[in-house]
Amino acid sequence: MAELLQMVNISKHFGPVIANSNVDLTVKAGEVHALLGENGAGKSTLMNVLYGLYAQTEGEVYYKGEKVDIRTPGQAIALGIGMVHQHFMLIPALSVIENVVLGYEGNGAVLDLKKAARDFTEMSRQYGMEIDPWMRVEQLTVGQQQRLEILKALYRNAELLILDEPTAVLTPQEVDSLFAIIRRLTSEGKTIIFISHKLAEIMTICDRCTVLRLGRVVAEGMQVSEIVDAQQLAELMVGQAVNLKTDKSDATTGRTVLQVKGVSALNERKLEALRDVTFEIKAGEILGVAGVDGNGQSELVKCITGLLPVTSGSIEIEGVECANKQPKQILKQGVAHIPEDRQKMGMVSAMNLRENLCLMEYDHEPYSSKAGFLRWSWIDKHSRELCQRYQVRTPGVTELAGNLSGGNQQKLVVGRELDREPALLIAVHPSRGLDIGATKYIQSRIVQERDRGAAVLLVSTELDEVMDLSDRILVIYEGKVMGIIAQKDADRKQLGLLMAGMRNGNGEKSVV
Ligand SMILES: Nc1ncnc2c1ncn2[C@@H]1O[C@H](COP(=O)(O)OP(=O)(O)OP(=O)(O)O)[C@@H](O)[C@H]1O
Ligand SMILES: [Mg+2]
Repeated sequence: MAELLQMVNISKHFGPVIANSNVDLTVKAGEVHALLGENGAGKSTLMNVLYGLYAQTEGEVYYKGEKVDIRTPGQAIALGIGMVHQHFMLIPALSVIENVVLGYEGNGAVLDLKKAARDFTEMSRQYGMEIDPWMRVEQLTVGQQQRLEILKALYRNAELLILDEPTAVLTPQEVDSLFAIIRRLTSEGKTIIFISHKLAEIMTICDRCTVLRLGRVVAEGMQVSEIVDAQQLAELMVGQAVNLKTDKSDATTGRTVLQVKGVSALNERKLEALRDVTFEIKAGEILGVAGVDGNGQSELVKCITGLLPVTSGSIEIEGVECANKQPKQILKQGVAHIPEDRQKMGMVSAMNLRENLCLMEYDHEPYSSKAGFLRWSWIDKHSRELCQRYQVRTPGVTELAGNLSGGNQQKLVVGRELDREPALLIAVHPSRGLDIGATKYIQSRIVQERDRGAAVLLVSTELDEVMDLSDRILVIYEGKVMGIIAQKDADRKQLGLLMAGMRNGNGEKSVV
């Protein structure tokens, strides 16, 4: 195979931060090349240099044997390079199809949006990732936004496609469809750079890998088939032995913390999203929600946290009715929330770390004095401790949160919420974008919170995560509870059927 891309001796500094240091990357035409490394290792930075978003401090890029100087994404696209970003680059107020054609409208001809929408729908159906082209992006779940980002890049027909953690919030079925697409693209001679923290995915779809650690290359162009097992791969990525198991004893449950009774709600498009949902979570247990993304999970969490009104039913937290109350009042009941979209709901990118870390608690002691002044020295110390405990890699607590790597942003939000000692912890995709070491740490912290006596509602597209952590599993389909199963009685096949709306196991859709 010929070399399609060579990045030679690339360094990228952000002031004192060295994100990439003398990195070499060689990608062959037609291969799937994995770019690996722990959170903050420099993967996204390197790809942003390639895509023209960042100018490198030093180093050269060769594409098809020619030296290129890519200064803007437009130039990258013109060369045939496409990128699916780790943090979506979509415009929330525009429709799906407007986002797809944005910057790609053609050469002055009148834009026929209806035709574009037909082509797009046809393509998304072919690729097994359907989305309504007329929905506004702000109405999409993160999973749907991820699908849209992938489809948008495919619509542009790139020759070299960079996928920066495309599977972080996809369901297993969607990952399968994505892999089928990748195989089809490489069989057509296209080339993929694939970033992921998920070992099984790397072993399944990638041909070679390059591993970064602290901005430097520690393994270059290694054949994935030569890697013996997941354990070795994990060690390569993290640089030390990783325990891949989550240890967890049986739950000891106490009082009922969350009682959801007959809750129905409309989504932001005024369509029925939750129908008569009833369940409870006791202190000391983890209830996992399994379901294909878009079946009411987001709305359920929004109703409980006061972000979406319920049309009927009741939500009691610690015996207090919380349906249709203000989010702040609900948080005061002892609720912590790791939201599905860290950037839009969990943090303020333009604020620094310590400001982000006191967002929920700034208005009382010890964060502020009785007189109402923020106690920065205490906040500083506390922020540094949190960053250390959750290994948020940063030059300091006055760094802007938006400058952190994706995984480190996630650690910031998760750390802040886990550390509030909540009575009710709502964790949505808690390990999204975390490297293997951080994932295992966060999962063990969630179990620790359970053992401390918190009631935990866990929503995740990762069935493995739901199976590993939960004590009971609630399956949701089209806004209805299909069943609640004790973890020890749950098997993947049965869960899969329930997630598809089939209750009888005979392939017939049950009437719900
Ligand atoms: N715009 C920026 N300004 C300052 N520092 C930055 C900026 N972008 C990235 N960094 C720093 O560069 C380093 C590498 O970040 P990068 O996003 O490339 O990591 P990554 O390997 O993609 O990690 P993750 O797996 O968490 O996505 C981090 O320490 C990060 O804080
Ligand atoms: Mg990244």
